[in-house]
Amino acid sequence: YPISKCLLNCPESFEFVVPDRRQNSHKGSYGEVSIIGGADGMSGAGILAARSALFAGAGKVFIGFVHSTISYDAPYPEIMCRNANDIQYATGVIVAGPGMGNSQTAKEILHRILDSDAPLVLDADALNLIASDVELQIKLSNKITAKILTPHPLEAARLLGVSTKEIQSNRLSAANQLSTKFNAIVILKGAGSVIGHPDGSIRINTSGNPGLATGGTGDVLAGLCGALLAQGYDYFHTAQLATWLHGNAADTLVNKRVGPIGICASELPVEIRAGLNSL
Ligand code: APR
Ligand code: MG
Repeated sequence: YPISKCLLNCPESFEFVVPDRRQNSHKGSYGEVSIIGGADGMSGAGILAARSALFAGAGKVFIGFVHSTISYDAPYPEIMCRNANDIQYATGVIVAGPGMGNSQTAKEILHRILDSDAPLVLDADALNLIASDVELQIKLSNKITAKILTPHPLEAARLLGVSTKEIQSNRLSAANQLSTKFNAIVILKGAGSVIGHPDGSIRINTSGNPGLATGGTGDVLAGLCGALLAQGYDYFHTAQLATWLHGNAADTLVNKRVGPIGICASELPVEIRAGLNSL
């Protein structure tokens, strides 16, 4: 299969279309996303993911903080903030991991999430918790609703029980092994993010630049995946569109001279929205 067919380098490389919004649609038409994360000292990760989901068009966005002390006053008026224990895992898409921490509480919540039927995006600490707990690994592999995992190379290494160097020396194979192992769509992040499908299909993203090498940009990708899933894209299309739009947002900022130096993760959602509306 020619590698050029796997490259995502412009919207024309997608084999699917971004539909227009129906005139008589309502917020229920665009789904619900709940971000589970934002433990002590990391609430920003949850907020970044939630803002990203909002700017990418999700109908309703919640944050379930894995946190005991935070004030649940909304950091953004559109975002509904709860304790993670009070989130309904039966409704909408769950994005678990951004700033989730590795506490016992976080682990218990992750068990509940994996026991639910919710469509899932798993990132960051959710992946680290899974890597360290065989029972969670079995639950994830057996879960029949499709799921998207968004590991960076170190998280991928933990999940496969190998070194980061081994992951980076054959990124296509690593993405493929992870998607087979967990029966999930996998976005192996980093320059040239690799997207793996359990059927063996691979896509390689070409958008993005080193301006993205700053804290929180991964949280923005996770929230974006959640919003696209909630709006009805299938899992493989979601992973492709999200990865491309995320990199493209950083490329747009560079073209405006707002980067590559000093791009902030919270600046990406506005550009992601512009990208999505121009497709
Ligand atoms: N070129 C293109 N894209 C890049 C580059 C680059 N040189 N460097 C980084 N990126 C992109 C990645 O592809 C990914 O989409 O930026 C994003 C970085 O995501 P993460 O590595 O998850 O970074 P971060 O958002 O800071 O993670 C937040 O979660 O993963 C944990 O340990 C991490 O605590 C941290 C938190
Ligand atoms: Mg991350």
